[in-house]
Amino acid sequence: MRFPDDFVWGAATSSYQIEGGVNKHGRGESVWDDFCRWPGAVRGGDTGDVACDHVGRYVEDVKLMKEMGLGAYRFSICWPRVIPEGVGAVSESGLGFYDRLVDELLAAGIEPYATLFHWDYPLALQRQGGWLNPASADWFDAYARVVVDRLSDRVSHWLTINEPHVFIVMGHGTGEHAPGLKLPISDQVLISHNVMRAHGMAARTIRERAKTKPLIGWAPVGVVSYPVSDDPADVEAARKETFASSATSLWTNTWYNDPVFLGHYPEEGLEHFGQHLPSGWERDMEVIQQPLDMHGTNIYRGTPVRAGADGKAEEVKLPIATPRTSFGWEVTPEVLYWGPKFLFERYGKPVVICENGMANRDWVDLNGRISDPQRIDYVGRHLMELRRAVADGVGVKGYFQWSLMDNFEWAEGYDQRFGMIYVDFETGERTLKDSARWYRTVIESKGENLGAAPEGVRRSGAFEPARRMTGGTPAGH
Ligand code: FCB
Repeated sequence: MRFPDDFVWGAATSSYQIEGGVNKHGRGESVWDDFCRWPGAVRGGDTGDVACDHVGRYVEDVKLMKEMGLGAYRFSICWPRVIPEGVGAVSESGLGFYDRLVDELLAAGIEPYATLFHWDYPLALQRQGGWLNPASADWFDAYARVVVDRLSDRVSHWLTINEPHVFIVMGHGTGEHAPGLKLPISDQVLISHNVMRAHGMAARTIRERAKTKPLIGWAPVGVVSYPVSDDPADVEAARKETFASSATSLWTNTWYNDPVFLGHYPEEGLEHFGQHLPSGWERDMEVIQQPLDMHGTNIYRGTPVRAGADGKAEEVKLPIATPRTSFGWEVTPEVLYWGPKFLFERYGKPVVICENGMANRDWVDLNGRISDPQRIDYVGRHLMELRRAVADGVGVKGYFQWSLMDNFEWAEGYDQRFGMIYVDFETGERTLKDSARWYRTVIESKGENLGAAPEGVRRSGAFEPARRMTGGTPAGH
């Protein structure tokens, strides 16, 4: 079984995680440059100062993408590289970098998917209150305009904002990510509203000003509960849980996606948080709900549930020996069936998996090779589930593996390797891992060639739902 001919096969990265070159192009500082200097904020005191030196090596990187047979590449633009102070003067050379990157991609036959914001917020604007400032949406819109005016003659796929959940909850709530704030939920709600206004205004600007017909989306986290069986009661419980609101946290699908796709906040969410929204918020719904062409979603793992006695979802504890990535994230491939299915059914937009992948303890072996069978297995299993979703009529248009190459994994520094390309962070040298070569065969076969297991060999083992019924492990992002 194959994926459709026009299915998009890609890999993803983000600016701060790979670019380095923090002093090139007159780049301004971002909140992450600042946060990395806080003692104890990032594992090992690591920073993105050099990272993969992608600004110096992008030509080589595009060559490697071509070697891997990628059809598309999702990258993000560093706002303070383009507008050092966040607003006002534009850095010609900063913008020029993305210009050259896009040209290089197109020359290699790789479709650029540009994300406008993947967390490296201009420090100068943070000092003016950042996303808490009601003007933040205008600032973002002005930045979007600069980028679109420059790149939209060649770029037609746009994602406005990556994972509002993470930079709001972890950046402004728990303080684990930049800008490292521990604000009350009331402020997080205000921030989320401004972020959605920013998304809407930028989407409108792209639509109005793009020189080639744009396809616009955003890339929130896909928070997925999946049923442990096909029993309709379990499925219904999982669906409800996937779209449930929380009384204490903005880590939900509906708080962000209902306004953006449906034009209103979820009822249950409003009950909990409505009082924190700015007065007149109802008027903003019009700009927040822009016509969109795709629903980008980043899905790595999910929570297994079944219907409890009252029909409500009941979490099924995973056994202690559940397969996990080196990040400790449970491997739950079903999320790429149920996640896109639930999202597609509720929001009705073509789904693009903008991120999925795993961190692994990869190293270069004595023969100079990096074999990462776990990653091949992880991606293979997830793609099988995604393929099943496509076969069942779920509108899924593409898959971007996270990540193209090993990079700066935020608060974890360089400790977690997510790449299909190995990066030696001392020398900058890149080496294709086995998974990169395997991914090429997946792309060439249009997703037919997913697993190496010969006929008759059980693929499941520890993944059997029945074995999930015992033991217990904590969840959490
Ligand atoms: C996502 C982020 C991405 C990367 C992966 C592992 O939450 O969008 O930058 O850190 O997780």
